[in-house]
Amino acid sequence: MNVRHLLEVNDLTPPELIKVLDLSEQVEPPQVLAGKGMALIFEKPSARTRNSMEMAIVQLGGHPLSVRGDEVGIDVRESAEDVAMTLSCFHAAIGARVFEHAKLERIAAVATVPVINMLSDFSHPLQALADLLTLRQHFGELKGRKLAYIGDANNVSRSLMLAGVMTGMDIRLSSPKGYDSPEADVVLAKTLAQEAGLRGAVTITTDPFEAVDGVDAVVTDVWTSMGQEEEAIQRRKAFQGYQVDEKLMSAAALGAVFLHCLPAHRGEEVSAEVVDGPRSLVWAQAENRMHSARGLLSFLLAGGQS
Ligand code: CP
Ligand code: NVA
Repeated sequence: MNVRHLLEVNDLTPPELIKVLDLSEQVEPPQVLAGKGMALIFEKPSARTRNSMEMAIVQLGGHPLSVRGDEVGIDVRESAEDVAMTLSCFHAAIGARVFEHAKLERIAAVATVPVINMLSDFSHPLQALADLLTLRQHFGELKGRKLAYIGDANNVSRSLMLAGVMTGMDIRLSSPKGYDSPEADVVLAKTLAQEAGLRGAVTITTDPFEAVDGVDAVVTDVWTSMGQEEEAIQRRKAFQGYQVDEKLMSAAALGAVFLHCLPAHRGEEVSAEVVDGPRSLVWAQAENRMHSARGLLSFLLAGGQS
């Protein structure tokens, strides 16, 4: 059986991505992890990812084993490769939240079981799956829906942009200069949009009002990601004018919704009025981290057959 990893959403094909969303809504989860374990390594803090992954594993009949990065000591006590080989001896899958994406790639290169990216400095595919599931549940269909991501072009926006265009969404990103998406990511998103053939599109603008104009969903994330704490003051200045508040939300379509992967900083990237307001789907979105993790694991542990 093929070992399939998920380091970024485009490790799935567009039909496979939809299949994962479908599996996320399966009423009776297949017991693909019965009698098996999954190792979850966290080099950074986590509330949602750890809890949603652990519960998804339990729902699939398995046993989650979460460990902190410093307990394992990847590349300190032994190499990432030796850790990957060791964990492959005991577990049916490995999840890792790491600082450097390259570490995940090294783990995936040698692991003999599926490896899942639970967030790196580069991407956060599990979050994008939950976001799409939340939007699909709310709107019924993703194709043709417009989404604006406002703020820092980061791991969350990268995965969401790619997943969005793969499902035929129109994705607009608005960030201040210097904090926008690398050109290579935009080119990749455009290529994936074309390959999917669903008329997904991507637009980049520094003007948040232009991005939000008429969209169905407005999304943001923290201005300072884990590991960037030293830049917090400088970033707070750079992102002035990029807060998602009621004024910005009023430029979106009537019935537009708000998403945030959380944790949120009220008064920074989003106003309390918006994140705690009637258009916010953040709690459904948080719950969907568990359902989409379960859908993904069901897919990967069945050998990634689509
Ligand atoms: N959204 C998300 O990944 O949350 P945690 O960092 O708490 O896992
Ligand atoms: N961009 C954020 C996401 C947290 C879930 C970070 O990397 O800290």
